[in-house]
Amino acid sequence: MQLPDFPWDSLAGAAARARAHPGGIVDLSVGTPVDPTPAVIQTALRAAADAPGYPQTWGTPALRETVARWFARRRGVPDVDPDGVLPTIGSKELVAWLPTLLELGAGDVVVHPEIAYPTYDVGARIAGATPVAADGTAQLGPAMTGGRVRLLWVNSPSNPTGRVLGLEHLAKVVGWARSRGVVVASDECYAELGWDGQEVPSILDPRVSGGSHEGLLAVYSLSKQSNLAGYRAAFVAGDRDLVGRLLAIRKHAGMIVPWPVQQAMIAALDDDAHVAEQRSRYAWRRTALLEALRGAGFAVDDSRAGLYLWATRDEPAHTTVDSLAEKGILVAPGSFYGPAGVRHVRVALTATDERVAAAVERLALA
Ligand SMILES: Cc1ncc(COP(=O)(O)O)c(C=O)c1O
Repeated sequence: MQLPDFPWDSLAGAAARARAHPGGIVDLSVGTPVDPTPAVIQTALRAAADAPGYPQTWGTPALRETVARWFARRRGVPDVDPDGVLPTIGSKELVAWLPTLLELGAGDVVVHPEIAYPTYDVGARIAGATPVAADGTAQLGPAMTGGRVRLLWVNSPSNPTGRVLGLEHLAKVVGWARSRGVVVASDECYAELGWDGQEVPSILDPRVSGGSHEGLLAVYSLSKQSNLAGYRAAFVAGDRDLVGRLLAIRKHAGMIVPWPVQQAMIAALDDDAHVAEQRSRYAWRRTALLEALRGAGFAVDDSRAGLYLWATRDEPAHTTVDSLAEKGILVAPGSFYGPAGVRHVRVALTATDERVAAAVERLALA
């Protein structure tokens, strides 16, 4: 199997230079949360520490009902069927295994955004299918792919660009996919992080889905909204039959979310206060970095939601990465996310207030 090199390995030189800065590195290259896991979730995990028996692959009914309630309360989706919900061990594994779980293989095409989280491509390769990067369905002529499109990924808000797809765009994608029997998987893990009033519709929103979840899967993660990346807590929801197919294989394969984590997920999804608190931390960091980047001659494109600023000085990404590394600031080159990203860098908001303040100070120096 031909897998790409793990892109972060190529940042080792820039990382070493950034670490050598007398004020220490400000690492804005990865989107890993740095703030504490909220107490309400830690308490629920501890209370569930006694777990001698095997947990249910499908998740407890209480967890699946909690997810359905969460969709109604937070995502404007009133009609999620708890039977169409399945917890996953973080969402990265689901992204990587979905084409395999849907039994895709040689001759099948998986479409993902042109500038994208690399795991969509990797997942297609693991299944032996063909990944194709395309933002518009118009780009998908049969001559271009030579195969049959079976799965289409959307990612809104996008990692890395922070672009948000509106209702009309999503509805069009759903219409196109349904008329061809293509499954739409929507990775929505930054959904709680819309900025400046930006609305972030779900693929399951009735204005998008037309009130039926047929052929649709929404993928969500608690890693970002709840500082829970270390727990591996996520879920997929939507079409009951599709979820049933995933469940059947995952049961055989032992792909089970530990019971204490399932209990912690219930506590996290039932508590909106910690999400608001975390949002306000990121809002401060975003404003500070946005102003500092603009002051340093960057244009920031898209970046309407999520945990990244998609910035450019209209030069090759590696030039920007190197010059920021001299200031002790490490960012990710846009080229990690596809050829269309070669003149951008991705600046993550996931550093402490103290480290973000250090970056702001350094960006202000010529
Ligand atoms: C777009 C996107 N999808 C999925 C993930 C995976 O998140 P997790 O596996 O922590 O749920 C990430 C993590 O950065 C991401 O950016």
